This record gives sequence, structure tokens and C-alpha cells, in this order.
Amino acid sequence: MHNQAADQSRSALHAVGDNVSHTPLLHVDGVGLQYRSATAVAQATHDVSFDVYPADRFVLLGPSGCGKSSLLKAVAGFLKPAAGEIRLDGVAIHQPGPDRIVVFQEFDQLPPWKTVKQNVMFPLLASRTLGKREAAERALHYLDKVGLGKFADAYPHTLSGGMKARVAIARALAMQPKILLMDEPFAALDALTRRKMQEELLILWEEVRFTLLFVTHSIEEALVVGNRILLLSPHPGRVRAEINSHEYDLQSLGSVGFQDTARRIHRLLFDEGQAEPAAQVNFKDVRFSY
Ligand SMILES: Nc1ncnc2c1ncn2[C@@H]1O[C@H](COP(=O)(O)OP(=O)(O)O)[C@@H](O)[C@H]1O
Ligand SMILES: [Mg+2]
Repeated sequence: MHNQAADQSRSALHAVGDNVSHTPLLHVDGVGLQYRSATAVAQATHDVSFDVYPADRFVLLGPSGCGKSSLLKAVAGFLKPAAGEIRLDGVAIHQPGPDRIVVFQEFDQLPPWKTVKQNVMFPLLASRTLGKREAAERALHYLDKVGLGKFADAYPHTLSGGMKARVAIARALAMQPKILLMDEPFAALDALTRRKMQEELLILWEEVRFTLLFVTHSIEEALVVGNRILLLSPHPGRVRAEINSHEYDLQSLGSVGFQDTARRIHRLLFDEGQAEPAAQVNFKDVRFSY
């Protein structure tokens, strides 16, 4: 209900031309992504559109190979769309920038010769965002937020997988990007640690209210982490549906509503035989079922 109201106020604001606070932060419009080699063209996505609003936890969900990482790379500015356009804060994206920070799954991206604090400081210094003293302060601030204040002087090899994940998140947030991009960040963790990280990410979001674009192939993770989910079909990735999922969190994992929505999503993603109009009906059910 809350989101419906927000949608209505958004369109009302658009109608009168006042789009100061309700303009999408990220606008992805008809994006087609391709990989070209000398002999072939692989179409990764086709005509993908979506909008991410400030403080959204927007999830791209779909089976492996449907172009989720490619979309994230395009938003990060590493991959140029063959069709369509991506805008951040109204400005077309053509290259990487410090306003978009990516957290990947491989936490061994933390240089092992730097301490935790130095790892978090590094992008701040390399991008000349801050001087050394301010960078150290900012690093400690975000390490505290992820519960690693006491480990500032530890080296990455002494940390568990979950702690490395938290360092990577602190390092990204310390850059205070306009949008945080996460590509299956917890996929390499064991099931319990993964759940804990999802919980911590949500707690952190409650506190910091960053804008998140999160990629996963796990329906459960999408429902827990996201407030909005874009379902992508495979080969090439196309938008199958978009659903609201703000009512779900780790507490609702076993509930009937959660299970039911998870099953509907599964059907939308994998029921190849299902005709589009039927999918639309399901999509509406899911969206307005609360
Ligand atoms: N560097 C690349 N060169 C050629 N094809 C690629 C490359 N990266 C991805 N692809 C292809 O693009 C499609 C989408 O890949 P990807 O975005 O990694 O999907 P996902 O993250 O959803 O698993 C796949 O078919 C994949 O094989
Ligand atoms: Mg991927």
C-alpha cells in the first residue's frame, strides 16, 4: 500500500513537472547489451528498462546467464550498451565513476598486504576523494557500522568470509556512492553466514538508507534483501515482471505469504510455456497481494 501511494505521488508529481525528489536516481531505458568477438555476437540482454529510486533496494533476479552481471557492469560503466541508455541522476553513463561502487562475490579482492583499515581507505585515497586523515576517520566510521571497528588493524587473511564481506561493504559505503552495486555478494558464503549477512545488510540499510542495486539468482535472497524485484528471463535477458517485495524480510522466510510469492516468482521465471497475458495476471496478483 505504501508503495502504491508512492507510485501515485510520483506520477502526480511528474504530471505537474515537479520531479525534484521523485525522479528516478537510476534510469535504465531499453538497454541491449552485447559481447562481440571477431566471429560472433552474444546478446546478453534485450530491451531492459527499469527505474531505481533513492533508498530502493532494487534486485535483479534471474537464472544464471540471463545478463544480471552484464547489466550491473553497464550501470558501473564498464560495458557500453549496444542499444538504449542508462542515466544516473539525469546524466548518461559512459564510464566508471566514484558515484557507483561495485561489491563482487570474490572477497579476496582485498589486497592481503593492507590492513582492514587501509583496505577501506584505499579507494578514498586513490580517487583523491579525501586526504589521509579524513580517509582514516571515514574508514573507521564505516568499519564501526559493519561491526569491525576492533579489526581495523587486522589483515584480511585473519578474517572469516563473512568478515571479509563486511570489509568490502564498508569499503564501498565509505565512498558514499550514489548507488551501491552488489553482484551476488554472498554467494560464496555458507548458508548460515549468508543469512547473517543479509540481515546485517538490512540493518545497515535502516541506518544509512543507501540506494542498492543487488544481483542474485536466489529467489529467497531477492525477497529478503529487496523492496522491488525485476525478474529477468534467460537468453537474452528480458524483463519478465517487476514485483514489490518490501513486506518480506528474514522473519517472514517460512510464512505462507513468502512461500506463495516465491512459488509465483519461480513460475514466472521458469514456466516457459506460460503465455504473456497469464504472466501479467500473476504479476499483478503478486504486486497487489498485500
Ligand atoms: N566477457 C564475455 N564475453 C562473451 N560473452 C559473455 C561475457 N560475459 C558474459 N557473457 C555472456 O552474456 C550472457 C550474460 O552473462 P552474465 O551477465 O554474466 O549473466 P548472469 O550474471 O545473469 O549469470 C551469458 O550468455 C554469457 O555467456
Ligand atoms: Mg553474474
